[in-house]
Amino acid sequence: MRTKRENFGGRMAVIAAFAGSAIGLGNIWRFPYLVGEYGGAAFVLVYILASIFLALPIFYAESIIGRRSQSNAFGAFRVLAPKGKWHYFGFITVLAPLLILTYYNVVGGWSLQFLFKSLAFGFNGSEDMTGYFGRFISSGWAPLLTHGLFAIVVAVVILGGVKSGIERLTKWTMPLLFVLILGIVVYSVCLPGAKAGVLYLARPEWSGLSWQGVSAAMGQAFFSLSLGMGTILTYASYMNKKDSIFQTGWSTAAADVMFALLAAFAVMPAVFAAGIDPGSGPGLIFESLPYTFQQMSLAIPVISGIVAILFFFSVLMAALTSAISTLEVGVAYLTEETRMSRKKATLLLSGIIWAIGVVWSLSTGPWSDVTVFGVGLFDAVDFFCSNVLMPFGGLLFTIFVGYRMPKPDVYDEFTNGGTLRWSRRLYPAFRFLVRYVAPVGIVLVSLTPYIF
Ligand code: TRP
Repeated sequence: MRTKRENFGGRMAVIAAFAGSAIGLGNIWRFPYLVGEYGGAAFVLVYILASIFLALPIFYAESIIGRRSQSNAFGAFRVLAPKGKWHYFGFITVLAPLLILTYYNVVGGWSLQFLFKSLAFGFNGSEDMTGYFGRFISSGWAPLLTHGLFAIVVAVVILGGVKSGIERLTKWTMPLLFVLILGIVVYSVCLPGAKAGVLYLARPEWSGLSWQGVSAAMGQAFFSLSLGMGTILTYASYMNKKDSIFQTGWSTAAADVMFALLAAFAVMPAVFAAGIDPGSGPGLIFESLPYTFQQMSLAIPVISGIVAILFFFSVLMAALTSAISTLEVGVAYLTEETRMSRKKATLLLSGIIWAIGVVWSLSTGPWSDVTVFGVGLFDAVDFFCSNVLMPFGGLLFTIFVGYRMPKPDVYDEFTNGGTLRWSRRLYPAFRFLVRYVAPVGIVLVSLTPYIF
């Protein structure tokens, strides 16, 4: 007997949940430092184009599979292609997000630590801020603790279920995040010397882009919309049959892109104001921003202290709502495909995910000598997930919807049985993008790092 499935309450709840998944560390931590590494506005332009023409069609493909099947990422293929072998691949899209979560939780733990630190007005003192992040992540037990705490919070939300867990959290955090980030943008842009950062984001520096940059921008568009991992599929399976896949999809993508841009305008001007190199890589928000806050606290101590709190609170909320969407993939699978209760599935998966995460966490500290193919374990797992598993999942979904699902079924799901006017009009464009453009884009993203 199958347990009865929960559904999201309505259109806004669906968009909030999707946006909660999409808007995460990818927007606020990864996007700004990639922009800094690959030529500012040039990178931003490619990212926006990739979001519209590559990522959005994949988002629709995943949503169509999820809502049509009303099932988890594994079960979906058994429902839609009962005789095929697709569900074996579907199994990979259940495991992959759990692997992402093993290191996503670690970064979630970092943001928790930075929130604690800012709450104690720790960025206002005279401590050497440039080395703080390095000292923290290499200190061994402290990051394990915050990583564990973060995992517990994620588990608590998931235990609450679709409506009183996920929906209840994302409905208020999403609007709040936009308000907070807007406030931080204002602070950042008003700092002395911030103008250079604004210009950097407004003027494309094409020479800084390169093929690597183009591939990174496309990869970022996929990562940012949580694609290829069954996350969108699982959330879409909780969507009402009345809601429009087309509308929720573009609203989510618009919110996601907008938030990424706002995050860049929150981070870059502050980075320039403090005279830091924008291309300083993954440490950008954890190393450069604390330094900025400290510098600014000399002139405006209280305001800088408060902005630091609000900033790291935003990072934490963004990380949390993405992490829950990722855990839900595994929990939906276990509760629907085995007889496990939601509670048991959540606790079991969270425990395993935390334990594996210990390895990645230690790899940034005591185990930093251990390498695979010349990179540390943390970078290796990130690369494997973002450049191998995610493109694989994306390809699977687009090919399934573009070539395997019966055409009338795809049309029916995209247009709600032909009742939605805009969906009907844009259906041919979607079909073209999902069959030809998206698969080529995915292959480009995954192969470019090896070719150039
Ligand atoms: N989209 C999230 C972010 O930008 C990350 C994320 C959560 C994700 N779940 C995912 C990425 C599944 C790929 C697949 O931070």
